[in-house]
Amino acid sequence: AVSNQIERGALIVFEGCDRSGKSTQCGKLVERLKNTGIKAKLLKFPDRRTTIGKMINSYLGQTYDLEDHAIHLLFSANRWEARDTMMTLLNQGTTLIVDRYAYSGAAFTAAKQGFSLEWCKQTDIGLPQPDTVLYLTLTSEAAAKRGGFGEERYEKEVFQEKVAKNFQDLKDKHWQVIDADRSIEDLHEEIYHLTQKVINQAKYKPIEKLWT
Ligand code: TMP
Ligand code: MG
Repeated sequence: AVSNQIERGALIVFEGCDRSGKSTQCGKLVERLKNTGIKAKLLKFPDRRTTIGKMINSYLGQTYDLEDHAIHLLFSANRWEARDTMMTLLNQGTTLIVDRYAYSGAAFTAAKQGFSLEWCKQTDIGLPQPDTVLYLTLTSEAAAKRGGFGEERYEKEVFQEKVAKNFQDLKDKHWQVIDADRSIEDLHEEIYHLTQKVINQAKYKPIEKLWT
């Protein structure tokens, strides 16, 4: 009975700390999916190209300061401004590969003094629910071997450890934890196979709302 319905795309989110290899894996996955005839598109948050994204970019680059609640709301707004496009693409059958999402939003702000994870989640409630969250983990030793952090705000060891702890607390049934301490190719193979299943299972499922 479902055979005449339009097959939707899957919403596949990558999360993890800085240097876990998310961006590399997102790029490789989108290319692989496209090469095998699956409609796929790469999205990245923050999307630094929009007006809001430009403010976020200046904040991260430490060009200017913003009050902690205010920057939290901007990161969230940067996802809400993409919401309609995401829904349209998904409903047209395009699988979205997303480099960071609301979980980064909550995990990073909640690592700051005086913020609870509960408060941080509120502004993203109701965004499209990912079909899976691929959480790439790396021990701090393995991460250290990948070279130093960059110059951006948040790229500091102690802060990243708090972020990692928050990610643990955000884990739910949609998450798959993946050990990222492997070669790019091995990791890509595992991820590609995991996503085949997710894409097939998402086809006729309604898109739910995050954290509701
Ligand atoms: P990027 O390195 O993936 O471009 O992300 C930039 C930084 O912004 C990274 O340290 C994670 C952080 N971040 C937040 O603090 N809140 C958010 O909502 C997102 C998406 C990222
Ligand atoms: Mg970065």
